[in-house]
Amino acid sequence: MPNTDENAPFLRACRGLPVDHTPIWLMRQAGRYMQEYREVRERTPFIELCKNSDLAAEVTVTAAERIGADAAIIFSDILLILVPMGMSLEYAKGDGPILHNPVRDAAGIHQLKEAEKESMTFVFDAVRKTRASLRPETPLIGFCGAPFTLASYMIEGGGSRNYIETKKMMYGDPGAWHALMEVLTRSLAKYLKGQIEAGAQAVQIFDSWVGCLSPADYRDFVLPHSRSLIESVGGDVPVLHFGTGTTTLLDFMRDAGGDVIGLDWRVNLGETWDRLGKVNVQGNMDPCVLLADRGFIKKTAEEILRQANGRPGHIFNLGHGVLPPTPVDNVKFLVDLVHEWRANSG
Ligand code: CP3
Repeated sequence: MPNTDENAPFLRACRGLPVDHTPIWLMRQAGRYMQEYREVRERTPFIELCKNSDLAAEVTVTAAERIGADAAIIFSDILLILVPMGMSLEYAKGDGPILHNPVRDAAGIHQLKEAEKESMTFVFDAVRKTRASLRPETPLIGFCGAPFTLASYMIEGGGSRNYIETKKMMYGDPGAWHALMEVLTRSLAKYLKGQIEAGAQAVQIFDSWVGCLSPADYRDFVLPHSRSLIESVGGDVPVLHFGTGTTTLLDFMRDAGGDVIGLDWRVNLGETWDRLGKVNVQGNMDPCVLLADRGFIKKTAEEILRQANGRPGHIFNLGHGVLPPTPVDNVKFLVDLVHEWRANSG
């Protein structure tokens, strides 16, 4: 028997079932805002930390327990899978990730390799070790980047403001674009399945930068690939489908699939949920609110809980990851407040 509890509030909410408290976890809950994480990072470069399954498991479990989250997310990064595909990846201090050999044309795309499961064994090992040391009632989330967000890193060579090269390829050579999205989607499907086999009880697909697209471009250039990735997980575990800046894309994202749609703070959670209909939602507090005073945090979080109004299928989260200057005590304050909400609201 796996060391888990299918009745955990997080897993129930992913399936739209009633819960006795709203589950909460935070994207980037294991990160630089946390002293314990900074201490590990002082000794270990980021990529090594991801590749060392003992350390990755330790960082994952410590963060979830420290803040009392209802789920843990495996410590890793969306860009690591690009290495077995043929990309040269570096996390440069202060500059964010760099891909030293961006793909800019069909020839570059045809040279890419499909990532095989064996190349990501270190992540599966970390999932197994994390599952074994997490408390049984805390579900473990696996994840990957969505095809669009990963394609944007591969084409731009790093983060981007205007996605000029990405859109140049998308508009100028749709054949090459779709070939890139397909090789990514096939690689990611195997990667997610490997994480699920290793013990991930839900998976989140991070389409962090998809908000730079128009609805029509999302529909034509992204939706079929995200849909195919989500379908490949095949209902084995709940899929959370997340992006930012997605106000105008959410209906298409819901159509692409996922048991849970991630919302950022630019939308009203209650109204958006009404519009999206029969799907579960995750979100949606602005991460910057955690830099404000407790009164403001309480007011903002309660407004979101009131919008959700006790409907089954809400997972509390931020609209994006925890920011490095966030006081960890504010995170703990938020988690406790969300857990006590039902009790207080009578
Ligand atoms: O706690 C968790 O959420 C799990 C771990 C996690 C990381 N990255 C660790 C990380 C997850 C889920 C990710 C996903 C990820 N990585 C995304 C999607 C989520 C999002 O934030 O939109 C993206 C776009 C990336 C790419 C990436 N990795 C960037 C842009 C950066 C640099 C920016 C930054 O915050 O430093 C990273 C590095 C990274 N990934 C760090 C962490 C904790 C910081 C590395 C460090 O310790 O210096």
